Amino acid sequence: MRFPPDRELRITDQGRTEEGAREDAELLHRFAEEGARFREWMLGFPVNLAFDHSDMAALMSFHANNVGSSQDESQYLLNTKALERAVVSFFADLAGAASGDFFGYLSSGGTESNIFGAYLGRERHPDAVLYASAEAHYSIRKIARVLRMDYAEVDVLPDAAMDLEHLGARCREHAGRAAVVVATIGTTGQGAVDDLVGVQEVLRRVGVERWHLHADAAFGGPLAALGSPRRPWGFADGADSIAVSGHKMVGCPVPCGIVLARAAHVTGIRQSDVAVGADDDTISGSRDALAAALLWRELRRLGRSGLTARVRHCVRMAEYAADRLESCGRNPSYYPGSNTVLFDAPNQAVCDRWTLLHDGGRAHLNTMPHVTREHIDAFCRDLQQQR
Ligand SMILES: Cc1ncc(COP(=O)(O)O)c(C=O)c1O
Repeated sequence: MRFPPDRELRITDQGRTEEGAREDAELLHRFAEEGARFREWMLGFPVNLAFDHSDMAALMSFHANNVGSSQDESQYLLNTKALERAVVSFFADLAGAASGDFFGYLSSGGTESNIFGAYLGRERHPDAVLYASAEAHYSIRKIARVLRMDYAEVDVLPDAAMDLEHLGARCREHAGRAAVVVATIGTTGQGAVDDLVGVQEVLRRVGVERWHLHADAAFGGPLAALGSPRRPWGFADGADSIAVSGHKMVGCPVPCGIVLARAAHVTGIRQSDVAVGADDDTISGSRDALAAALLWRELRRLGRSGLTARVRHCVRMAEYAADRLESCGRNPSYYPGSNTVLFDAPNQAVCDRWTLLHDGGRAHLNTMPHVTREHIDAFCRDLQQQR
């Protein structure tokens, strides 16, 4: 929605009259109505819009806060850490954590989860170089700067996954130093999956003796875990820490993420009894209790089987979209098992209507849980009319 010009939205010294406050509420209601309609048009962003927590409006009437460790009760009693732990356990289980050997918390999103993973790696191995592919999320380069780590970008293969030969070559340039490797499980642009097991083989082969392997599975974690065939992405496959998004496959009105790590890696960063009576082993201070409650609610409703059905729906919709785009002459391509389809970009008006990003003449479409055949058919009709 286009909001009124900034000058009309300024917060003034005298505040609003009653009538002005009513107008402001109406403005936000119009935004909410538009948000609900977006479900019909959103094809290009990897966010799930298929949820409705509007019956939980009562949660908006007080401040809840999960400050400090998810494992530790704080003196601020209005928290949802019990629900947060259930969400963390669900994902830890999905990622193949051995019973009891995991740590996790609900973060503000993929970026914070990646910061946490890289931070653990750097604390374990202070001399480490940070390696990630050229298709890794832009947060990784920023994180290298925040953590003052040397950053080595690794080339990608034609399918957009990390080129392991090049990883080996880059490691040889830094012989003797440890490695923090970020393997992307589902790249933002194309859904490509780096070979987590192959990364470890290369590290061993080129003589890297100390490493921390972080799986940035913000986008592709649930697809890797529950798709068919399953793809290596978790603890059982050698990851030391893992980022998963909360607002992508599960869905949430606010951005959020889950970060997981092997329990032993976290003891070194924990400060005891500093966060309102709780230990702190997180990046943030105050943490979102609302997102934890809503993710818990949605995952409880779905269960593992509901989430699996959802993942399979997304993959089937990608296959369907690729077929339909082929018959529209749009040269679709996609990474098998992913829910991202690239195709020749239509004109800007069509891209705007369907919220499609495009780059170098190719647009990309994400079949997230709210996307149905009807969406794709309507989109293809739009493409044909354009022609
Ligand atoms: C692979 C990957 N990593 C990290 C992120 C960053 O997540 P967030 O925007 O929640 O910080 C994204 C977001 O698109 C992503 O696709």
